Amino acid sequence: MITIVVGTNRENSMSTKIAHYYKSILEQYYTGPIDMVDLVELPANFTGTALYDNNGDNDKFNDLRERVQSAEKLVFVVPEYNGSFPGVLKAFIDGLKYPQGVRDKKGALIGVSSGVQGGVMAMSHLTDIFNYLGLHVLAVKPKLAGIEKHWDGEKITNTLYNTLLHQQAEKLVKF
Ligand SMILES: Cc1cc2nc3c(=O)[nH]c(=O)nc-3n(C[C@H](O)[C@H](O)[C@H](O)COP(=O)(O)O)c2cc1C
Repeated sequence: MITIVVGTNRENSMSTKIAHYYKSILEQYYTGPIDMVDLVELPANFTGTALYDNNGDNDKFNDLRERVQSAEKLVFVVPEYNGSFPGVLKAFIDGLKYPQGVRDKKGALIGVSSGVQGGVMAMSHLTDIFNYLGLHVLAVKPKLAGIEKHWDGEKITNTLYNTLLHQQAEKLVKF
């Protein structure tokens, strides 16, 4: 099982659109099951009902967490928020089981931004955290900068972006 995680709980995010598009690319290289966990599905009150002393108490949160923790490989679509990744993604990670949550899994990151950075710092910050947690991050990390200019409503139109996404998907399957 490869699980694609949308790294924001913002409604109608570009990250959700990119995640579904990436799934269609990954299916060209991977015949196993692919799941999608979109953080927009997080219960709005999860920081007060699923973390710390409430760990394990929120069924919806537990379902999302279990789908991430049971995956063999993970793909995170990471929007750039304030020069990093969204705080809600860190809160979700803080609610994973520790230390076994994502330990020894393999994963890939895709950065998405309106601006010019393409989530380069967001992915760097997240790579540090995942490496700390024992998740091995694939070195190919596409940076989809200026995403609105390269999205036609159904697909990415930028040739380099598509090449990088295909390269990453192919390498992730062999990783
Ligand atoms: C809270 C917030 C902070 C953001 N900060 C940045 C930023 O630092 N740099 C940038 O290029 N875009 C920034 N954006 C724009 C997002 O990168 C843009 O919305 C992009 O489509 C990916 O986010 P999305 O998946 O929520 O749509 C920000 C958006 C939000 C909602």
